[in-house]
Amino acid sequence: MSSCDLSNARFDTKMIHAGHVVDPVNRSMAMPIHQTATFAFDTVEQMDKAWDDLGYLYTREGNPTVIALEKRLAAMEGGESCVVTGSGMGAVATTLLSLCRKGDNIVASKGLFFHSDILLKELFEKMDITVDFVDFKNIDEVKGEIKDNTSILLFETPENPALSVVDIAEMSKLSKENNCILIVDSTFAPPPISFPLSLGADIVIHSLTKYINGHGDALGGAVIGSKKHMDIIKYPGMPCFTGAALSPFNAWLILRGMETLEMRVTKHCSSAMEVASYLESNPHVEKVIYPALESHPDNGICKRQMNNMGGGIVSFWLKDGINGLSVREADYMLCNKTKLFSIATSLGEAHSLIQVENDDMLRLAIGLENHEDIINDLKQAFSIFD
Ligand SMILES: Cc1ncc(COP(=O)(O)O)c(C=O)c1O
Repeated sequence: MSSCDLSNARFDTKMIHAGHVVDPVNRSMAMPIHQTATFAFDTVEQMDKAWDDLGYLYTREGNPTVIALEKRLAAMEGGESCVVTGSGMGAVATTLLSLCRKGDNIVASKGLFFHSDILLKELFEKMDITVDFVDFKNIDEVKGEIKDNTSILLFETPENPALSVVDIAEMSKLSKENNCILIVDSTFAPPPISFPLSLGADIVIHSLTKYINGHGDALGGAVIGSKKHMDIIKYPGMPCFTGAALSPFNAWLILRGMETLEMRVTKHCSSAMEVASYLESNPHVEKVIYPALESHPDNGICKRQMNNMGGGIVSFWLKDGINGLSVREADYMLCNKTKLFSIATSLGEAHSLIQVENDDMLRLAIGLENHEDIINDLKQAFSIFD
């Protein structure tokens, strides 16, 4: 089979074919894992040529398996180019370190994943890059913080773990009016849920560790956007010089995971919707947050921006005083009684996960088990309160 033209291919086809190459040496149909630190040459002249042509010399600088993944990820988001990193945090740090200069200001969401929040507070302030944290649900608050030296607007949508949905198109307009780079961490809503670049974002970040790999067995991160921005990140590039490069084996696992991305994400979303609806009807539950529920304040944006798919995370609070228990005591009892759920942090993998958040909220990362089994497990766990 010659390499096929994917320009008119549908999303699920691209996730199988983009970046895929049949091994030209042994004709292996499955892509080989180029699990090597370095690349060897017959002559010094050949090595010089590889250096001049930006060929493969050393895996931290470039590797065929890793490049295949970058091509598939660019196709996934409809971006010109992609840089992958050793984890999602590698992608966040790499992007900001590459694009910011001393004296710049970043306007970031108050609702960022707490490790990104720590990174901005601890590292960037030290480098004379100021960061203002605002509520990206309030456009006037964002507008009010943009200054002459603001170069970047940064937010996640849906936000982790509160699940509020930020309007990407609205923020893109504001960003363009102020000459800023709009960066969206879309880890909670990977394609086919949302496509931030098509809504005007300049750069999309993903923790590949979650839905995109989908099997909970590899860390990875990605930054996707225009060639102009990705070239700044690639060279003089941070994954190379900070050592945040992705291993070829992880790149291969993620490439394999992506072949089933569309069907997995669709199932995570439909099962999460069933679970959210069940929880809304449960008398012990005070409140459920899930963007695709009509009761969610951002349901209108979810319909527009997320193909009406709410993602795989469902958050909820139990009522205070169930059998005289505090909310936290009841949270612990419920979590400990689940059987199908694992008590673990993360999301987007085949196994369903449950955890207690700081504000006594319970967060479910719905897996790929049958949704009736997931709901039955919750029902048997709730029976502890009977
Ligand atoms: C929204 C978001 N961004 C980035 C990250 C970091 O990803 P990783 O754990 O792959 O470094 C996470 C991790 O949970 C996340 O939820």
